[in-house]
Amino acid sequence: MSARPWWRDAVIYQVYPRSFADANGDGLGDLPGIISRLAYLAALGIDAIWVSPFYTSPQHDAGYDVADFRDVDPRFGNLADADALIAGAHERGLKVLFDIVPNHTSSEHRWWQEVLRSGPGSEAWDRYIIRASDDGPPNNWNSIFHGPAWSKLVTADGVDTGYWYLHLFDSTQPDVNWENDEVREEFADILRFWFDRGVDGFRIDVAHGMVKDPALPNVDYAKMRQAELLGSSPEAPYWDQEGVHDIYREWRRIADSYDPPRIFCGETWAPSPERLALYQRPDELHTSFNFDYLKASWDRQAVQRSVANTLLHHAKVGAPPTWVLSNHDVVRHRTRLAPGFYPQDRHCRPDEVRGLARARALTLFTLALPGSTYLYQGEELGLVEVFDIPDAAREDPAWHRSQGEDLGRDGCRVPLPWSGDAPSYGFNSGTASWLPQPPSWATLCAQAQDGLGDSTLEFYRAALRLRRARSLGESALEWWDTDGDLLAFRRASDTPLMCVINFGDAPAILPSGTVEIASMADAVTADHLLAGESCIWMTPS
Ligand code: GLC
Repeated sequence: MSARPWWRDAVIYQVYPRSFADANGDGLGDLPGIISRLAYLAALGIDAIWVSPFYTSPQHDAGYDVADFRDVDPRFGNLADADALIAGAHERGLKVLFDIVPNHTSSEHRWWQEVLRSGPGSEAWDRYIIRASDDGPPNNWNSIFHGPAWSKLVTADGVDTGYWYLHLFDSTQPDVNWENDEVREEFADILRFWFDRGVDGFRIDVAHGMVKDPALPNVDYAKMRQAELLGSSPEAPYWDQEGVHDIYREWRRIADSYDPPRIFCGETWAPSPERLALYQRPDELHTSFNFDYLKASWDRQAVQRSVANTLLHHAKVGAPPTWVLSNHDVVRHRTRLAPGFYPQDRHCRPDEVRGLARARALTLFTLALPGSTYLYQGEELGLVEVFDIPDAAREDPAWHRSQGEDLGRDGCRVPLPWSGDAPSYGFNSGTASWLPQPPSWATLCAQAQDGLGDSTLEFYRAALRLRRARSLGESALEWWDTDGDLLAFRRASDTPLMCVINFGDAPAILPSGTVEIASMADAVTADHLLAGESCIWMTPS
């Protein structure tokens, strides 16, 4: 047994409860549904699951609007189900991360309800970011979900108070005030509540956002956009503020007080790999998502630059990097990487065949990198982004707040196809599904792919098996000198492994060695060339 902590090179699978499996047939996934599929998850070869929020919530932002952090929404089950999920996962050797949402509460949270019944100067008002302003919002901040980030504070009896409250997301998600001691104590207590129940750690929602510049200065959005175009650090007075690191020092002490210590992964959209690594200093978060890598897309230079910068800056703080290609907030990578994909164009027709080739290639490349990797449910089935969701079925607040201009994130949240040839494809035992599943998903069902040599599901299983067998851990990555469209590196583990990806269309010459796994059945030609848009792992000779 290695003494290396499990999380340093784990493969962690994101379960999005509303779309994973639905035990009670109401069309919305639930905790008993997840429990019923734990055997599938363990057999996939992952080390842990991260479960998106299932807490009590009006579901205005799919559960990221939490009304009670210590209870389960009846639509998803109850506390006993949460306990059974933790126990069931542990029995199968899987660790469990839950999702904590500390930047905001739901407006149905008891704290916000108290605000509506109190007034300026009250304890209730101090828990949120509330400001007086006679002539419009206190500053020009925009909500991430479009429109202003401030709404008028109107009391329970309908009185306009002349005050405004901040919500960086939906107006039903007021931002809490992290300068308030009670807020800090409450979240520390929520951590302990779930740690005591046996959860192994937390993914932290909007981990870079809790602290705001106290002066609440206006933002120069034009300059920020320009800075982003030029690739330099965007600065916003509500992201990546120094004070947020103090919170994580306190949280780390709490996590370390458990045996075994609990862990964190921040949803940290830091402006650069350098700023990101600061969150992983030894007394802060264990890991953070590495969105720089996700954004590198299908671009050889960008991928290499992101990997190199990430490794460089994480090494400085002694932390393992993480890698991720898909989650519940971004277009599925089979679609995003495909030729013919255009963001926000619901009429675009991405090439799904080449999209799958690229997605499998980049996934294999990712799984060979040092550190831990996050997978998003359904990517192991090769699911695509769904564009033709009827407007009436869409739920994402970003869609509603932009009057449909922003397509939102529903397209990557369509319930999983498990079996059968008609909706709900085994998502439940009936036909209900909170978002409609496309007819083409019959061939993508887990059951249809099970045991099928070339299927994406069997490819994921094989890659995860080999990754585990090779226990690549955090051994050093050495780039292999390539030019053109190839990118290759060698891992200096006990049994050396070489990973080679071809970003181009044309076949390219491979170094000599034995191919261990390929992203596609026809990736390696008879004369030892690596086909375009494919990736292999090999034992070099
Ligand atoms: C995070 C979540 C996203 C949610 C937002 C507000 O980015 O991943 O789904 O809408 O935070 O909580």
